[in-house]
Amino acid sequence: MSKKICVVGTGYVGLIASVGLSDFGNEIIGVDIDEKKVKMLNEGISPIYEPGVERYLKRNLESGRLTFSTDIGKSIQNADVIFIAVGTPPKDNGEADLSFVESVVKSIAENLNDYKVIVTKSTVPVGTNRWIKEKMNEFAPGKDFDVVSNPEFLREGKATQDFFHPDRTVIGYESERAKDVMFEVYRALNLISVPFVWCSLETAELIKYASNAFLATKITFINQMANLAETVGADIHTIAKTMGMDGRISPKFLHPGPGYGGSCFPKDTMAVVQTGDKYGIDMSLIRSVIEANDMQKARMVTKLEKLIGSFQGKTIAVLGLAFKAETDDIRDTPAFNLVEGILSKGAKIQAHDPQAMDNFAEVYPQIEYCKSEFDALKDSDALVLVTEWNEYRNLNLRKAKELMKGNFILDTRNLLDPELAKERGFILEGVGKG
Ligand SMILES: NC(=O)c1ccc[n+]([C@@H]2O[C@H](COP(=O)([O-])OP(=O)(O)OC[C@H]3O[C@@H](n4cnc5c(N)ncnc54)[C@H](O)[C@@H]3O)[C@@H](O)[C@H]2O)c1
Repeated sequence: MSKKICVVGTGYVGLIASVGLSDFGNEIIGVDIDEKKVKMLNEGISPIYEPGVERYLKRNLESGRLTFSTDIGKSIQNADVIFIAVGTPPKDNGEADLSFVESVVKSIAENLNDYKVIVTKSTVPVGTNRWIKEKMNEFAPGKDFDVVSNPEFLREGKATQDFFHPDRTVIGYESERAKDVMFEVYRALNLISVPFVWCSLETAELIKYASNAFLATKITFINQMANLAETVGADIHTIAKTMGMDGRISPKFLHPGPGYGGSCFPKDTMAVVQTGDKYGIDMSLIRSVIEANDMQKARMVTKLEKLIGSFQGKTIAVLGLAFKAETDDIRDTPAFNLVEGILSKGAKIQAHDPQAMDNFAEVYPQIEYCKSEFDALKDSDALVLVTEWNEYRNLNLRKAKELMKGNFILDTRNLLDPELAKERGFILEGVGKG
């Protein structure tokens, strides 16, 4: 039987969960403290850029199964299941900040009028779901509820696809009653034989951190190999491709670049190190990954400097600001390090990104934002490719050469054909191409 669900937080994760769960036939109310977001969502406009999301948003609003509200109390009272999908950003020491989660837990306790299942979708450190249980017992003694951990694995840019066809769905639970409820919530996924991992709260919590820490490690591994390859005259593309032919390794996440960014890998690696410290468990591998990734980001500025010489008085065209393609998310994007490095060394920036310029301008209002990649290239001394947007892969290099003053390219994603760039008169530096 379909469920009445309240999703608290309508950001990248909460919005996808809201539209996805209502598409599965459940009745959803998405709640956010941001009034502007809620208004836009009720009008069928997505506050974020995520391919496909608006189609699902409109369809489910029209069906009447999906609405958005700022009234958390009423929304909780009317729901059988409450999904917590608020942010868990890093504190200064790297620990996950659980204050948004705690405030939602308080609201749930205040409005617990009946048995409800509280589902944590936000990424939270091991022990948090048990802590939620304790808080609930403290704020709402004697009331009937269950706590479930249901970490999210979606990739921004492919979020709808990942929600409807996940590799697996992880559910940490303690009572059969809650398990039955979760089975109903995700009935549609059961019907298409998505593997379900039913496990303890702690196991579910740690699966998420282990997965992200592993992926961050894999990226960092290939980045360091790329640095070695370019120094000794080897080709990382052939190395990574051949490594990937080994079934034990797989070709995924073996693409060298400017260092990982985004809202998850940097914060989740820091949080798992903090958790290790808390329990006295050595997390030196992940600690090194974090350090190596910071160095990779800094290395891009050094590479650019080696390529163009002094930055003073130069104009640099930066193509791509989002932390990866197909999103407007700039959280921890490698573009920050490049832009900061370029500006601090006295050069001017002309930037372009298909979706992330408004967000980036809130942090760096002082750079010039251009309508097209070609406007950004005009009279520039060098081009830096930061995000792997498809439209940059086939950049018209003849036109670029005509527009630019200089002939340097730093291709941090190895998007361009080095031979063609050379033919067009460019001096191109990639990552890991000896
Ligand atoms: N973004 C991703 O790709 C991704 C993937 C997997 C897991 N996660 C995890 O999911 C969680 C959410 O991430 P996100 O990227 O969606 O964050 P986000 O910042 O995009 O969204 C969080 C939303 O919560 C709202 N909010 C904050 N406090 C609230 C409250 N008390 N009541 C109602 N709304 C409130 C904010 O206004 C915001 O809209 C994080 O823990 C993150 O680590 C994110």
